[in-house]
Amino acid sequence: MSNESIDNKNTGLFIERLTYDTGRITRFLNVLTENVPDILSGIGILFAIFLIDKTSFLIVLFSIIIRTCIENKRATKVNVKDRDYRLKKEKNNALISEITHGIKDIKMLNSENNFLDELTRRVKDIRDTNYVKQDVDRKYIFARNILNDFFVLLLTLFLTYEVINNMLSVALALVVMNYQISIPNFIVAIGGLIDRIKDFNLSVERAFLIHDDESFAKEHFGNIHLKKVKGDFVFDKVNFAYDSSLVLKEMSFNIKAKEVVAFVGKSGSGKTTIFNLICKMYDVNDGVISLDGYNINDLDKDSIRGNITVISQNPYIFNMSLRDNFKIVKKGLKEKEIIEACKMACIDEFINTLPNKYDTIIGEGGVNLSGGQKQRIAIARALIQNTGIILFDEATSALDNETEKEIKKAIDNLKKDHTILIIAHRLSTIINSDRILVVDDGKIVGDGKHSDLLRNNMLYKKLYESESFEK
Ligand SMILES: Nc1ncnc2c1ncn2[C@@H]1O[C@H](COP(=O)(O)OP(=O)(O)OP(=O)(O)O)[C@@H](O)[C@H]1O
Ligand SMILES: [Mg+2]
Repeated sequence: MSNESIDNKNTGLFIERLTYDTGRITRFLNVLTENVPDILSGIGILFAIFLIDKTSFLIVLFSIIIRTCIENKRATKVNVKDRDYRLKKEKNNALISEITHGIKDIKMLNSENNFLDELTRRVKDIRDTNYVKQDVDRKYIFARNILNDFFVLLLTLFLTYEVINNMLSVALALVVMNYQISIPNFIVAIGGLIDRIKDFNLSVERAFLIHDDESFAKEHFGNIHLKKVKGDFVFDKVNFAYDSSLVLKEMSFNIKAKEVVAFVGKSGSGKTTIFNLICKMYDVNDGVISLDGYNINDLDKDSIRGNITVISQNPYIFNMSLRDNFKIVKKGLKEKEIIEACKMACIDEFINTLPNKYDTIIGEGGVNLSGGQKQRIAIARALIQNTGIILFDEATSALDNETEKEIKKAIDNLKKDHTILIIAHRLSTIINSDRILVVDDGKIVGDGKHSDLLRNNMLYKKLYESESFEK
């Protein structure tokens, strides 16, 4: 699924539709055991009444048609309320998921009560919607019972009339009366079937929206497969907007294989966006990005993502042991390879100070890591993946000098045989790069070595001097 689609949706939507709605779809099969037997026996009874007395049959048939129409109306109304109920439920799930992820920030903001109030309000709203849904059901069921009694009375009067006028024997009239006792079950089964069908349609519509709807667009890749790419990138007049306003504006630059290139610029200037486009997380609006001379739109997924590793600003370390965090990215990974990669990423020493070393569980219920540690683990993960191109989005949080040095050393270890693009927030980490590109408001406004830029690029000079001043 494309990242635009994921950005625009809440997590609750995916949880609800992929669990609750799909569960409802499978429940449709229950009609075979719950509704179909009663419907079949109802048809049998109707046929029997038809054989005994045609007019009684017409009365019963007429009553069934009217009651089926009413059942259909009931099911439609309940379904509309159910749609509303499910939408509210998924929004609430999204809030719960956000609260769980952001619990530390919520505590820091001292906003527990505000979130609790919002959660309570939503839960009450869901409860009320569910109540309204059940209330519609209750009112119609009440009407259904009254109608049942009315038609029993009508049929009894008619059969009495027939018996008095010798149109039907008492015995057969009693048989018809006996048969009609099962008609309410028949109506309930028909109503149940309509409910199930409407529920099935709603669930399919909601679940398959993820699959079919345009707002859940799929990712598109080309067919050209490159096994190992060299790492020559060209941005040619690239325009890109996440929504309406352009973030990258006619951006052009090129990078040669095995170069170490740094991107610097103010916050929000578009640096991370460049990385997102290189990995084809989003598609460009205009212009071309090429890799080894091929437009990346023509390359298949493996050629792009199988050859590029991104170490993001806040890398995700999975809630499993450190060892499993490494094993998950490469099948059949040997212990020796893990340790070697961690040593190169300057994180092995730290891991050995943890109580369970490489078996330490990270995240929920386990050890939490600092931003710098996470980035070094992500570097080790990149080394294990051994892709030719590494994109490194340096953490914004100020790293202490010791950690900065370790990260620098980890990157130096990669330099020899990788194309490395670094987004630097601390210019001191990248002054030795082969080239530095200065990004400002979605454009490249400087390209050169540190010493050249310091001389002839005002923005770079300003960025560098403000940092030196901070120090
Ligand atoms: N997923 C997104 N949807 C919509 N807008 C986005 C998205 N990601 C980033 N933006 C916007 O695009 C612009 C550039 O963002 P980008 O993340 O590329 O900045 P950056 O240069 O990496 O900044 P920083 O140095 O703070 O990391 C910003 O104005 C930001 O608000
Ligand atoms: Mg960024």
